[in-house]
Amino acid sequence: MKNSGKTTGGKCLRIQKSGPLCGRCAVGTSKNAVLPMLAAALLTREPVVLHHVPDISDVSDMISLLRTFGARVSQSGHTLRICARHIKTTSPNFHISSRLRASFLFMGPLLAREGCVTMPLPGGCAIGRRPIDLHLKGFEALGVKSITASGHVLAWRQTLRGAAVHLAYPSVGATENVIMAACLARGKTVIIGGACEPEVCDLIGLLTAMGAKAEVKDGRIEIEGAGQLHGAEYTPIPDRIEAGTLMIAAAVTGGDVRIDRAPHKHLMQVTSKLVEAGAEVFPYPGGIRIYGRARTPMDIVSSPYPGFPTDMQAQFMAACCVLGGQSTILETVFENRFLHVHELIKMGAHIDVRGNTAVITGVGRLCGAEVKATDLRAGAALCIAGLIADGETVIQDIRHLDRGYEHIEDKLSSLGALITREV
Ligand code: EPZ
Repeated sequence: MKNSGKTTGGKCLRIQKSGPLCGRCAVGTSKNAVLPMLAAALLTREPVVLHHVPDISDVSDMISLLRTFGARVSQSGHTLRICARHIKTTSPNFHISSRLRASFLFMGPLLAREGCVTMPLPGGCAIGRRPIDLHLKGFEALGVKSITASGHVLAWRQTLRGAAVHLAYPSVGATENVIMAACLARGKTVIIGGACEPEVCDLIGLLTAMGAKAEVKDGRIEIEGAGQLHGAEYTPIPDRIEAGTLMIAAAVTGGDVRIDRAPHKHLMQVTSKLVEAGAEVFPYPGGIRIYGRARTPMDIVSSPYPGFPTDMQAQFMAACCVLGGQSTILETVFENRFLHVHELIKMGAHIDVRGNTAVITGVGRLCGAEVKATDLRAGAALCIAGLIADGETVIQDIRHLDRGYEHIEDKLSSLGALITREV
């Protein structure tokens, strides 16, 4: 998707201490639902049309990779039409693939469609080693062989055969990759121990619309391989992490905000933590209203869905910096997802990290400072900290933010935040 230039690029974000956020905005479509769907479009020769696609750089990068593979991609507003009638290569551009984690999601569709693929090892946020062993083990169960050498994975198969795939950890990406490969395998695949994030279920929704026989049954994911899939038109789910980010921004400023399209049923853990901290959350048909102020410290443990989302951990840590008393955050999903701690400490936060636990002692006030977004959600956390810090906060490296938030400064300023993008 050609970025309008409005959402990406630019040197930094400048944020002044802002009053309570008030008003109404709508949440966009889920980045983590759309990205695997863009890969899934390679599973058919017919057009796949996706609506409400966010204008973010990860989507642009996936579109560039789709075009590398030979797919035709056209855009009308936020609607994308992808048609992969012919695949012209199965070894994508290293430079783009290494920019994002989701590039690895092309592996399943290419193995299913073409039988072999040379994929660069994926990139993405530096929040951990982010190995791909679970993806490769899942493919192996389906009859795929692979070798990893000089930064690439070479994988090939004779015939993809349905199988029982046991995932040792509910990896979102590995689950999605195996589901997509299994759609064109011979026979039935059952994934045991797979991820059940809403975005995984939404991918199954698209694949079903494309003619796949896939469903979640008794906690397992069952896929009946089909000879081929057909095209489909689909609207992905709203972004629960963007919604959660706006909710915590409202609660930490003591505002009153209505967030249209916020998927309340996907935000139960976030909602209960905010209510526990003293905010009020009221779902309404098609959205969520949040008002009042988060005041009391929280103890958070991130875990796979339906647990507390790791993608909300940094944002909540920013809020905990100014809550009275001591909060703790145990990050169990990624081994290096505390890169934002150093930046928050520059703003006067009092945070001790012991292994994968952060202990946050609330301070009366944060002070604006020049900080840098070390990854996507760390950038969002710094925006939240900037809203409540005295003086001005300047966030550098905002390309990380633009990977997953469309017009973040527009949405926040429409609610009264004093935030501008300096280009
Ligand atoms: C997806 O990443 C999301 N990204 C992440 O969102 C999200 O944080 C993560 O799932 C967990 O919910 C997209 O969907 C594009 P994982 P993914 O495989 O698939 C380990 C954001 O901010 N693991 O579930 O890469 C891994 O190291 C991003 O929007 C293996 O050990 O996550 C990690 O510790 C950040 N071997 C844990 O599992 C593997 O083969 C969870 O990773 C794969 C993963």
